[in-house]
Amino acid sequence: MRFLNFPDGETQVRGEIVFEDTFFDKFSVKCGAPGVWGRKGKISLIFDESGKGMRALVGGGERAKFSGPTLREVTAEFVRTCRAHSCSRLSLEFYNDGKGQKFSRAASSAAAEGALAGAYRFDKYLENSDKAPPLESFALIGGDEEGLERGRIIGEAESYAKDLCNEPGNVVNPLTFAFVATKLSARLGLDCSISDEREIAEAGMNALWCVGKGSATPPRLVHLVYRPQGPVRKRIAIVGKGVTFDSGGLCIKTREGIKTMKHDKSGACIMMGVMKAAAELKLPIEVNGIAGLVENMPDGGAYRPDDIIRAMNGKTIEVLNTDAEGRLTLADVLTLASKLEPDAIIDVATLTGTAKAALGSYTAALLCEDDDLSAALSASAAIAGERLHRFEMDDERLRNGLKGIHADLRQSSPDGGGTIIGGMFLREFVDPSIPWAHIDIAATAWYDKNFGVYSTGSSAYSLRTLVEYLSSL
Ligand code: BES
Ligand code: ZN
Ligand code: ZN
Repeated sequence: MRFLNFPDGETQVRGEIVFEDTFFDKFSVKCGAPGVWGRKGKISLIFDESGKGMRALVGGGERAKFSGPTLREVTAEFVRTCRAHSCSRLSLEFYNDGKGQKFSRAASSAAAEGALAGAYRFDKYLENSDKAPPLESFALIGGDEEGLERGRIIGEAESYAKDLCNEPGNVVNPLTFAFVATKLSARLGLDCSISDEREIAEAGMNALWCVGKGSATPPRLVHLVYRPQGPVRKRIAIVGKGVTFDSGGLCIKTREGIKTMKHDKSGACIMMGVMKAAAELKLPIEVNGIAGLVENMPDGGAYRPDDIIRAMNGKTIEVLNTDAEGRLTLADVLTLASKLEPDAIIDVATLTGTAKAALGSYTAALLCEDDDLSAALSASAAIAGERLHRFEMDDERLRNGLKGIHADLRQSSPDGGGTIIGGMFLREFVDPSIPWAHIDIAATAWYDKNFGVYSTGSSAYSLRTLVEYLSSL
């Protein structure tokens, strides 16, 4: 797809951003009620006076509230609507005060991200006739070249992460995921090391190892490193939960609960997308992307409730529920990440179903005790148009619920607060001197409808926040 910042004369649909107070004087649109055309996300397709092409009024909502996230969202809606009409050459500009009005660098990036997100579909397994032709070009009239390029890189990283995550468990398992990681690293010039099940066990990563042992496909550990050409400002570790399918193990999920559990690898896929974006944006920081890949399955070799496991940092864990496998896989990876002595560690995981009960489907949970890191991530999320809600981990009584009876720790607690408990459990495996954040995306990683920048399936939620954060360092 080509991104342009001028109209190329081949535009099929010319989109114009209008606001609720936009006064139409150039052409004869009959407004039913004031503001109706400008309602946020409303897309009205109309034929041009010349009859040559189509124009679209793209509702931008209230003018005073218009921002990068709104532009990203309405651009996605605009592109989605046009794609539904098989139009693949699009342009977007501001209406009326539009004469000469430019899109800033950040706005141009947001629009490009929105265009790619709005055009995204996971349709590789569909008959050709059911596929929409690809989006050929998107011109942002008055756009900023660098911003468009940045948005293209971020948007493509998101599509990459979504594609990987949308692949089912019979295609992407720990072995094939590791293969994809080697291919990505070769393409981007990243360092890539893959540990197999024997190396994982020998390193003492028993918590990761035990979750994988009920599956016919053994676990893998993927560690990617992006190093910039010039001086290195910071070293950051991004850790992703990589459960390629979560059946629940012996504590098997219900037939409803097991649906879509191929997306329990979202964190690992987001890590891969972040690595891709960091390398292509040539960020001046070292980024370590690490994921423990396992398939959580029940069979004769599976780990069981009551098992006591010694994690890599020496702490013993009593298993209560084999469906709380994510924290076990992350525990050892966080210990490993700590050993790299990075300036910050951020993990992303579809960890707890309770995140949805607490925050609903459109906000991810942030567990972070470092005020600076928390503030930086929240600021990045605001720019990225993603919502993060911070929970405290200071409730000592809640923490006491994690004390084991026969082991140092138990895997979960009886006192509720599941999302916070998930964070408190992981905290036991991170070097306390390293700023660390845990982002629980269990409620936001998967959507079963198209809306805004999201298409049915994986959302890659938090990828943009992470890229924004890394870019701010
Ligand atoms: N992968 C699930 C969490 C999840 C649920 C992600 C729904 C996406 C959508 C996780 O491994 C899990 O099963 N967690 C348990 C934890 C509990 C047993 C302490 C849960 O949320 O019920
Ligand atoms: Zn689970
Ligand atoms: Zn899981």
